[in-house]
Amino acid sequence: MNAERSKPKTTATSRVARKAAPARAPKVGRGELVTLFDFLRYAVSRFSEEQMVFAHGTTDPLADAAFLVCEALHLHPDQFEMFASARVTANEAAKLLGLIAQRVRTRKPTAYLVNKVYMRGLPFYVDERVIVPRSFIGELLDSHFGGGEDAAVDLIGDPADVTRVLDLCTGSGCLAILASRTFPNAQVDAVDLSKDALKVAARNVADYGLEDRISLHHGDLFAPLGNARYDLIISNPPYVDAQGMAGLPRECRHEPAMAFDGGDDGLDIVRRIVSEAPAHLHPGGGLVCEIGRGRDVVEAAFPDLPLLWLDTEESEGEVFWIDAAALPAAS
Ligand SMILES: C[S@@+](CC[C@H](N)C(=O)[O-])C[C@H]1O[C@@H](n2cnc3c(N)ncnc32)[C@H](O)[C@@H]1O
Repeated sequence: MNAERSKPKTTATSRVARKAAPARAPKVGRGELVTLFDFLRYAVSRFSEEQMVFAHGTTDPLADAAFLVCEALHLHPDQFEMFASARVTANEAAKLLGLIAQRVRTRKPTAYLVNKVYMRGLPFYVDERVIVPRSFIGELLDSHFGGGEDAAVDLIGDPADVTRVLDLCTGSGCLAILASRTFPNAQVDAVDLSKDALKVAARNVADYGLEDRISLHHGDLFAPLGNARYDLIISNPPYVDAQGMAGLPRECRHEPAMAFDGGDDGLDIVRRIVSEAPAHLHPGGGLVCEIGRGRDVVEAAFPDLPLLWLDTEESEGEVFWIDAAALPAAS
């Protein structure tokens, strides 16, 4: 078993030993921190000192701190530079110090503290009912399915011809929403077993005014869909193995366990998706499935399937594509 497979995506910082004792924040004197830049520097120092994990929409202490400071001050992350030398008010300073202390003390991902995450530049509401979105499939929709000039590979032809998409294990609904933008003429079904997650997804779908294009379904994988067939199925299912579940970093323990838990070898849900997908794909369609860092485990589990591994800027061999025609016929 590849132990790496079991770990959620983290930075090098997360791989060093973490302190067990709760962090005691150093005292900050009134007026010692003045500008946005001062608070950013202070947050980065605290986060680095505490050897925290960054895997929830940001991948290092600087990006996490910038996100926290901007969101707390109701600024878009792109506006940080413009206001870096601006002073904050006393109330804003208290709010920033409170959030930085909370981030360190509780290890809650910043996305939960500010109820927001950006994915592919789009904001999504998040809270502890859903995993913080960080699927590589978001980038792959642009790079391998968008059909635009930037598309590295075009796996499904003209995106305008795609009329039905399924997002299995939708969580916050982020991938369903991104897919609805990639495929402007598609109706998107999105399924999750968690009713709580679907409430968050419904909020995001409504925020984007996509209620007429995205249907949310409660249930176990394909069960709520009847005999429906799709041009494309995308899924970022739970895929953490038992060893990984036992060693989840504190940050990830704030997220729903059922978003991670893939059984003993991590493939419980992936196996079911692969075996049930053929009955729900049109000929010419295909399945995109994220599996984490266990490419060797997956290839050993499906030795006869011609899986095509799709890489992104920050991942290699963590997502596969398979044509409907190459999947074993549904039994
Ligand atoms: C890794 S999260 C992915 C969420 C979202 N797609 C994303 O990329 O951020 C996996 C999701 O699968 C859901 N889930 C777990 N088991 C399921 C099942 N048997 N059927 C449907 N959804 C399931 C969890 O509730 C969770 O929301």
